[in-house]
Parts: sequence; structure tokens; C-alpha cells
Amino acid sequence: MVAIKSLKDTKVFAPITVGQAQLSNRIVFAPTTRKRALDDHTPSDLELQHYDDRTKYPGSLVITEATIASPRFGVYSNVPGLFTKKHAQAWKKIVDRVHENGSKIAVQLWGLGRVADPVATKEAGFPLIGPSAIYENEDAKKAAEAAGNPLRSLTEEEIQEFIYKEYDNAARLAVEAGFDFVEIHGANGYLVDQFLQADTNKRTDRYGGSIEKRSRYALDVLDHVGSIVGWDKLAIRLSPWGKFGGMGGADGEVSPVGQFGYLLSEIERRRRQGNAIGYVSLVEPRVYGNVDADDVPFGSNDFVRSVFKGPLVRAGGYGDDAALFKTLLDDVEDGNTLIAFSRYYTSNPDLVQRLHDGSDLTHYEREFFYTSSNWGYNSYPAAGGKALVEDIEKLRVALPIH
Ligand code: PHB
Repeated sequence: MVAIKSLKDTKVFAPITVGQAQLSNRIVFAPTTRKRALDDHTPSDLELQHYDDRTKYPGSLVITEATIASPRFGVYSNVPGLFTKKHAQAWKKIVDRVHENGSKIAVQLWGLGRVADPVATKEAGFPLIGPSAIYENEDAKKAAEAAGNPLRSLTEEEIQEFIYKEYDNAARLAVEAGFDFVEIHGANGYLVDQFLQADTNKRTDRYGGSIEKRSRYALDVLDHVGSIVGWDKLAIRLSPWGKFGGMGGADGEVSPVGQFGYLLSEIERRRRQGNAIGYVSLVEPRVYGNVDADDVPFGSNDFVRSVFKGPLVRAGGYGDDAALFKTLLDDVEDGNTLIAFSRYYTSNPDLVQRLHDGSDLTHYEREFFYTSSNWGYNSYPAAGGKALVEDIEKLRVALPIH
């Protein structure tokens, strides 16, 4: 348990409007991959409970775990998808429950690219692809070659199909499911990020070769998905300094400030011209993907504010100074910033209520993050609630939502 102070009388609990969404507080459930979906990537009953439990404080915002927008982008097992009607129908039940709770939900649309599982992707019938045929590391190369699914670069025609057919399909399904926001996963070394960064994008066509051209894929995706869902329901997540997935971070070929500053300036330009994005979400350099940065690099996301003036969601390590939450309180001070939690939101389903009341936080158990049972997932009670029985929850696995 971690004792904390109440944030009730701070800006954290001042209402804020993000896009069309009226929120009662500035705490967000960050996208949190947990592998509790069904084998065909349909979200499960366990996920329904997970998002239900985390939206009981009315006016909260949760962002779904990374959700495969198309198997052509690459596949991992037992993560959810949003590329079939069946997926959309299951997601709709989750969205409806969140809305009954008076809260809001964003779907995070994911394209894996070079870091996809070459075996699972081959089984789904698709090649392993990236902007360029550059593996994350030697092990990834060996695994892809052993699977008979070596990494290859996308053709320009495939890129067009990815944007205007695959993202198009996922965006329309997101509208059908009733999501409040569609967040493009542009972070953590996945496909959009692979296009953005010079170390992973050696293309010489319209999609690579300069800061502007490397930004084109992200911007084309935003422009197209924005035209379907509406810009006020659109969002993007970025990790300028991240090294997760073999990315360069501060040691990359091109300064993140240059690359991401340009991308953000284009997003800001659209905002000023009337296409205002719902929010931009940032991974802080304190965390790389799902691991703590042990060599915090030179760099800070503070540059973002001098470019992008809309709502920001910042995530990564804000629980590290739980007790006083000094960094969190400093960062919300600009009035247009929300703070997202992942790990503490796993182990505290009622996190917003606890921050409001100043109730102790339960510590998370990392060893159950990527297992398949309910233990370590929906087994953490709300404050004052009854603990569940380990042996029983370890037997409980994902089932269809009915
Ligand atoms: C993960 O599967 O560990 C993961 C997924 C999405 C992220 C980061 C990490 O953005």
C-alpha cells in the first residue's frame, strides 16, 4: 500500500472539456496491453468488467488497450482488434457500459509493423511489414526468418490501402461501436512511429527521406480518420524520446524535437484552421513502453507545449512520486493537461476515487500483466472491498461477452 494525499482540492478535479467530452477530472486510464481478448481478437467479458470497474467515477476518461486496426498491420495473440463487425459489436457493449457509468472511452488503434509476431501474422495470412526492412534486432530477424515470414518494406500502393481501406474500416467500426475518441497509436516503436523515425524509415519515396516525408504517413492517417470520425473525436499518441521497440530516442539519427516538433506543428496548424484534434497523448521519457527507463535520456516533452496548444494527455511514471504527486500537480498547472496512469490503474480500479479521497493505493504485480487468467487483472478490489480468491480467479479465463 502507498499512502497518498487527497487531490480533491487541486486542479486534478477541476472539470475540463476535451473535444466534445465534458470530464469531471484530469486522470485518464492510459492504454494498457493485457492480453485478455478472445483468440479471434474479440474483446472478452473480462475486458468488459475491466473498463466497467474503471469508469465508476462519472466524468472519467479511459483509453482502451492497444487494439489491432487491421491484421495486415501485423498481429499479436489475444490482444483485441477492431476490424470485424463482431469486434465492433463486442466493443459496443463495453462502450455502452462506460456511458451508463457517465464516463468516456477512447479506442487506441494499433498497427504493429516490424515488431509484430511473425508466426501469428503468418497464421493470419499476412507478411511481416515495415516502412523499411530493418529488424528491431538480430533475434527478431532470426525469428522472422525461422517463421518463413521475413520482414519486407511496404509498397506505396500498400500504404495507400493501409490508410484508405484498413484505417478507414477501423474508423467506421469505431463510429458504429460509439467510441468517444479514436486514438491513433503513433508511439512506442509501432508502425506509425516506424514511419516517423529516420532509424526505421529509409524510404526514398513520398513517405521517407526528410522530416516532412516521414511525417506523411501519420498525417495522412490523421486526415483520413479525422474525416470519418470528426477531428474533435480524433487523437494521437506519441513517444518522442522512447526506446521501446528498438527506437533511437535521444540517440536517434534525427532529434526528436525536430521530427516530432514538425508533426505537432502540422497538427497545430490544422487545429487553428478548424480541424482541432481532441487531444495529443505523450509518453514521458521516464518510461519506455512497458518498462521504466533506467537511463533517463537527455530530453523532455516540455517542447511540445511551445508548439501544440490543445489538450495533452501525459503518461509515464506519475505514480513514482505518489504520496505527494509533485510532478503530476506541476504538469496539470497549465490548465489543458491531463495525466494518465496505467500500472496503478491496473491495481486500483477505483483510482480516481482514491485520488479524490486520499485512500491508500494498492501496489501492482507485474508478473500477471500478460498472463491470461483473471488473477492480477480484475482481482484487485476497490478501496474497502473484499479480496478475491486466487485459486478461483486463476481458473477464470476470457469468455465472449453476452
Ligand atoms: C506491450 O505489449 O507491452 C505494449 C503495447 C503497446 C504499447 C507499449 C507496450 O504502446
